[in-house]
Formats: sequence, C-alpha cells, structure tokens
Amino acid sequence: MSNRYAVILAAGQGTRMKSKLYKVLHPVCGKPMVQHVVDQVSKLNIKEIVTITGHGAEMVKEQLGSSSKYALQEEQLGTAHAVMQAREMLEGKEGVTIVVCGDTPLIKHETMEALFKHHEELSAKATILTAHAESPFGYGRVIRNEQAMVEKIVEHKDASEEERKIKEINTGTYCFDNKALFEALNKVTNNNVQGEYYLPDVIEILKNEGEIVTAYQTADFEETLGVNDRVALSHAETFMKKRINEEHMRNGVTIIDPSNTYIGADVKIGSDTVLYPGTILSGNTLIGSDCVIGPHTEISDCHIGDQTVIRQSAAYDSHIGSQVNIGPFAHIRPQSDIHDEVKIGNFVEVKKSVFGKGSKASHLSYIGDAEIGKDVNLGCGSITVNYDGKNKYLTKIEDGVFIGCNSNLVAPVIIGEGAYVAAGSTITEDVPGEALSIARARQVNKENYVQKFNK
Ligand code: UD1
Ligand code: MG
Repeated sequence: MSNRYAVILAAGQGTRMKSKLYKVLHPVCGKPMVQHVVDQVSKLNIKEIVTITGHGAEMVKEQLGSSSKYALQEEQLGTAHAVMQAREMLEGKEGVTIVVCGDTPLIKHETMEALFKHHEELSAKATILTAHAESPFGYGRVIRNEQAMVEKIVEHKDASEEERKIKEINTGTYCFDNKALFEALNKVTNNNVQGEYYLPDVIEILKNEGEIVTAYQTADFEETLGVNDRVALSHAETFMKKRINEEHMRNGVTIIDPSNTYIGADVKIGSDTVLYPGTILSGNTLIGSDCVIGPHTEISDCHIGDQTVIRQSAAYDSHIGSQVNIGPFAHIRPQSDIHDEVKIGNFVEVKKSVFGKGSKASHLSYIGDAEIGKDVNLGCGSITVNYDGKNKYLTKIEDGVFIGCNSNLVAPVIIGEGAYVAAGSTITEDVPGEALSIARARQVNKENYVQKFNK
C-alpha cells in the first residue's frame, strides 16, 4: 500500500444554506458535517489529513482540533484552488491523496477504502467516486466515451441539456496520484459559468495527457449526498438517523419506533436496552444494558449504568447509576451524580447534586446544590432553598435522613446522619444526627369559632 494523504474541503461559506453558521459546521445527528467526514477519513490509515479552511476557519479548527492539519484558503476561488492551498504540505510527496468535500457527511470509510483499492489496482492517476442519482440536479455529471471510459466531469451549471440527462454524478470524493494532482492543478483555469477553478477539471487534464483515469461507482447514492441547502440537510439527517438506529438495533438495542427515535452519532448503548418513541439521545451519552428509556425522553451528555429506567424526562450532563428509576416528568440538570438504586419521581428537579445509593425523592421536589447521602428519603415537596438572590449555598443531608413532606431546607445547612425533619418544617439551622427537628408554628384549634364569628 502506498502512502496515503487526505485533503478535506471545508472553506466555503455555503451561501445556499442561508445561514450564519458555516456550512460544514451544520450538524447531522448532532455532529457537524465536517466532523463526520474527518472521523471516517481517520479510519483509513492516512499519513496526513489537511483540512482547507476559509469561512469560519477558527470555528472549523476548534471543532476538528488536532485530528487534522490546516491550510487557509483566503478567497474561495473554487475547489481546485482549495486543494492548491495544501501544496506546501503535500506537493512532491509519493503516494495517493484522497480529496473529500466537507459537505458529504454520509460517506463511509469502507467506501473510501474501496475507492483507494480500485485506484491502486488500476494504477490510475485519478479515480472518481461516482454514484447513480435519480435526481442529479446540481451535481457534476460524469462524461464517458463510447468505450465507457471516463472523459471528464461537467458541472451542472456548465452542462448542456443532453449532459444534464446523465445520472452518473461526481460525488466530490476522488483519489489522485499525489504528484500528478499538484502538477495538473497548475493547469486548471476558471473559464466556466461560475468563474471558478474546478477540481473536477483535473480529470480531463490528466486524461488528455494520456494518464489512466477511472471511476469507481458506489451502489449507494444516499451515502454520497452533498449538502448544499437545508432540504438536503434534512435528507442527510434522515439517512444518518436510519443508519445509526439500525446499527444500534444490530448491536442488540430494541427501538420500538425507529422513525421517532433520535440518537446522536457518538452515543453508545448497551444490549437489551429498550428505547420507546420520542427518545432523543445526544452528545457524549453512554447508556448501559437492560435500561428502559422513554417514551418522550431527552438525554444529553449523560453516563448511565445498567437496568435504569428513565421515562418522560430530561437529563443533561450528569452521571446516573444502575437500577435508578427516574420520572415520569423529572428534570436532571447538569453536574448531577445519581448513584445506584436511586428513585427520582414525578415533578422532581435535580441540579448539581449528589444522590447517594438508595436515596429517594419520589414526588414534587427541587434539589439543587445538595449532597445527599445513602438511603435518604426526601418527602413530597422537599425543597433545598439554595439561592439568596446573589449566591448559591450547599445543603448536606447525611445517610439515612428522613425529610418530611413540604419541608424547606434553607442552605447552607447540614442535616446529620439518621435525623428526622418533621413535615412542613422550614429548617434554617443544622440538625444534629439522630434528632427530630420540628420547625413550624404549633397548630391552634379555636373551638366553636364559626358560631361566635357569625353572631
Ligand atoms: C461539487 C463538485 C461537483 C460534485 C459535488 C458533490 C466542483 C466544482 N464541483 O459541487 O462536481 O458533484 O461537489 O457534492 O468541485 N470549497 C472550498 N473552497 C472553495 C469552494 C468550495 O473549500 O473555493 C468546499 C466547500 O466548503 C464544500 C466543498 O468544497 O465543502 C464543495 O463545494 P460546493 O460549493 O458545495 O460544491 P458543489 O456545488 O456541491
Ligand atoms: Mg456541495
């Protein structure tokens, strides 16, 4: 196998997206398009990946980090001009360079690997990845001669009526002999409808020089979809969602209604977990085995153990243990750490709090900035009063505490191990361990009050 290099084109503004966000940063299943491309390219045993940036260069770099090197294309004069920007890094090197557009998020590494193989087997100087498109509008068309050999690519805007009927399209992914590529790039002109330097023109240039130029056609058009506007973005989302869901199902996850289940590209789920409709899992979320999630549940950036049930709830940026029961209608806010066998019931909001093993807040509570020990029972309507309008304070509840219903715990406050707080209390001072604290007005019954009042 020869040395492999990659150039990823990501400098365009993406005018057709009509967006403030640069095109290649638009997410598909929660992950920016260009990141999808780089993640797949990274699986190909590539010596050097160079991403061409321009519009939004800083944001693209921030997104991709050290997984790629970068070359800046200050003015977007076309895809050939974009590849030229990698000249300093790649020119003169022996090997094969794959060029991929940052707006083709569905392309798989297996297909790129097959493209490399085809290219190497035929000792070609250039190999285009093509596909058959039922609606080829907007794509470059592959022009073949009578012997079915590739002659050139004609951009949609430059194509004749006859050429536009061709359904074999240029996917925007190519393998080139690296040296031949940079030599040919010097010869590309901008003599076309758009006044741009087209990378596909390299094909015709090499062909005219008598070099071997070939095409490798993939059977799957969906995979090569180029996203230029929001309609295509929604198609990419649909295809990617299907791909992700099917992979999880093949790995042993039950998805009751895949068309209504949204799983981010980097989410991991253990086997025998069941996802009910309306489940949205995103970011760096990891879910264990034998869990039940949904219906109508949003989980983002959470690590969740095994045999946990989360119904009709939202959870963000938190750790949730095993055999935990959450919902319906609970809200787990960031930086919460919910240990095993905890129960968070209906209408409970938890924020930046630790729940020790086996503790329960079963109904209608707000628990914020709290450290709760093991086997604590927070009665219905328990509230940590954590905010004085300026600062937030900690509530510490030690192991085995019982908090009666409708209690306010005014922080900072500590409830000692095994203590009881009577229902309806407003606790403003620490409660010693094993104590019973009652902090409410005594009940007064005024006998025959109504009769006297009516006189
Ligand atoms: C391009 C191809 C077309 C192919 C299609 C596949 C050209 C001239 N046309 O068309 O044959 O069918 O992709 O999706 O290559 N970019 C830069 N710098 C530039 C211009 C573009 O980095 O100066 C980047 C864009 O950010 C984008 C990629 O190159 O990621 C492709 O550009 P785009 O404008 O989307 O080309 P298409 O019209 O889709
Ligand atoms: Mg495009």
